[in-house]
Amino acid sequence: MIDLLSFSVISALTILVIMFTMPKTPDLFMIIIFSLILIPTLIALIQGAPFVPTPMKAAKKMINVAGIKKDDKVVDIGCGDGRLVYLAAKEQGAKAVGFELSPLVYLFAKIRQLLWRSKAKIRFGDFRMFDLSKTDYIVCYMLPESLKKFIPKFEKELKKGAKIVSYAFSIADWEPVFIEPSNPIDNVAKIWVYEIGKQYKK
Ligand SMILES: C[S@@+](CC[C@H](N)C(=O)[O-])C[C@H]1O[C@@H](n2cnc3c(N)ncnc32)[C@H](O)[C@@H]1O
Repeated sequence: MIDLLSFSVISALTILVIMFTMPKTPDLFMIIIFSLILIPTLIALIQGAPFVPTPMKAAKKMINVAGIKKDDKVVDIGCGDGRLVYLAAKEQGAKAVGFELSPLVYLFAKIRQLLWRSKAKIRFGDFRMFDLSKTDYIVCYMLPESLKKFIPKFEKELKKGAKIVSYAFSIADWEPVFIEPSNPIDNVAKIWVYEIGKQYKK
């Protein structure tokens, strides 16, 4: 479920965009602006996963279970409001980068960055356009079909020993090195940890 703060800010931003941009008779400029906002939002919904933030307790768990240390390079491949990268930077001193495909959600992450005063970086765009070879940890909350599609990129670019920490969904037929059980009382789903080089049984 989207938390109340996320829901309110996204609703407010959507209303503001509509109020300030919708003319009485839409012209080409407005159609382009709306397409630029709506098309990537729909792509994110269909492609990777819609914007549903990891519950805060689960986010903290993800950052802790994987053994992230100071200066490790942590990447969230669809960062939403940025909570995972802000936590990784704040609590572990990681060099964290989040990619976000959806313009409104990206804007929301940038606003939250001011509140967190975070040094983590938020990049706008599809993470598949970026090189992952220096990454130590991927953190993600993506649908299983999307995770399956990302396997070739993970295997091509991630170095041996890099870890993928996946919330709520496992990666196809990969073998995890660790599973954090779910905790329904805290609304925390399972967390899977994978390590490149150990993802297939010998
Ligand atoms: C389920 S949300 C998770 C947000 C955040 N990682 C968290 O755990 O709170 C998935 C986010 O990934 C974004 N997304 C989906 N596919 C993407 C892609 N290929 N590149 C970058 N962002 C993507 C969506 O717009 C959405 O905001």
